[in-house]
Amino acid sequence: MPTLATTVDGLSLPNPFIIGSGPPGTNLNVIGKAFKEGWGAVIAKTVSLDASKVVNVSPRYAKLLSGNGEVIGWENIELISDRPFKIWEDEFKKCKDQFPSGVLIASVMEEYRKDAWIEIVQRCEAAGVDGFELNFSCPHGLPERKMGAAMGENPEILEEVCGWVKSAATKPFWAKMTPNITHIEDPSRAALRGGATGVSAINTIRSVMGVNLDTLRPEPTVEGYTTPGGYSSRAVKPIALRMVMEIATLIRAEFPGRSLSGLGGIESGKDAAEFILLGADTVQVCTGVMKFGYECVKPMTEELLAFMAKHKFETLADFKGKSLDYFTTHADLVKRQGDRKAAQKSAPAAARSDAEWKGDEFVKQSDALARS
Ligand SMILES: Cc1cc2nc3c(=O)[nH]c(=O)nc-3n(C[C@H](O)[C@H](O)[C@H](O)COP(=O)(O)O)c2cc1C
Repeated sequence: MPTLATTVDGLSLPNPFIIGSGPPGTNLNVIGKAFKEGWGAVIAKTVSLDASKVVNVSPRYAKLLSGNGEVIGWENIELISDRPFKIWEDEFKKCKDQFPSGVLIASVMEEYRKDAWIEIVQRCEAAGVDGFELNFSCPHGLPERKMGAAMGENPEILEEVCGWVKSAATKPFWAKMTPNITHIEDPSRAALRGGATGVSAINTIRSVMGVNLDTLRPEPTVEGYTTPGGYSSRAVKPIALRMVMEIATLIRAEFPGRSLSGLGGIESGKDAAEFILLGADTVQVCTGVMKFGYECVKPMTEELLAFMAKHKFETLADFKGKSLDYFTTHADLVKRQGDRKAAQKSAPAAARSDAEWKGDEFVKQSDALARS
């Protein structure tokens, strides 16, 4: 009988499904709901010491629908928590009283000041949290105050801030990466060098959801104007998987033993299996909970267990990172395919060189080159 139970950075989780920081962890009421439904851990909505500077607008979400009405992309221009830190301290304490075995992770963000980072970490620890996620990645609003992604885009600052947190924290802490950079390895390496216990990836992708063709105003429109936001949900999964793969490869090579929490578009147990196969220890879900409710953890755990049973994996460790070995260079793909002349056999309709593309067979030829 396979088990989903896992221990990551000393934290014992009943399963690897974690509530990702955002609306699903925004107060004690909803955090309690998550634990009752069986989530492996909860990362609360990002907090800062001075919530008075956090002012949200409405509407702040915009959805991208597929042809059959399913939400495939979700943009938000939501800020971090607008609730006073004192209230959060109180709720963290109450949460640990009510759910002593529930793993509660505080997501924290501060300005570029050592004393502020140390204060927030120490006060959260005093309130009983089990670990931290450092939000270096919110792509909108906060960077205007040099917070969030403004820090995550700068490896030097990342390393320094992780060093500050390391000096103050007795609990594990994960650095949450922004995907809005060219090479995800650079900030990941900096955070791990600075002492982060692990890395989380990804936060939302900077986006403009669209333009209303009647009003000519970009969406989501607030008093006729907008600002670029953060993109999440199913549409971002391939980008998240690529970044998780790159960070896992870095961890294997340079930081063995550090942990990786994958997120971005996870909605099913199969999605989770893919992230774990690419090196994630845990998986987080944020927009999926906003779409399907806290109960979605049940089918997710069942589907992941069924995947494990099918492959006779007893534990998550049995398949963590197993698919990383199948990445190689393009030159190596060419060599492998040339060696066994697979191109001719498997894709007869496909153009084998650029000179063979034909105008009247273009779609057929494109199709023949796609994964079936
Ligand atoms: C409405 C909304 C609010 C979010 N707020 C936060 C936040 O406060 N802190 C944070 O680290 N990430 C925040 N995120 C990002 C998510 O935690 C996650 O990194 C991202 O949405 C990708 O995962 P998903 O596709 O499962 O949502 C937010 C996402 C959404 C959709």
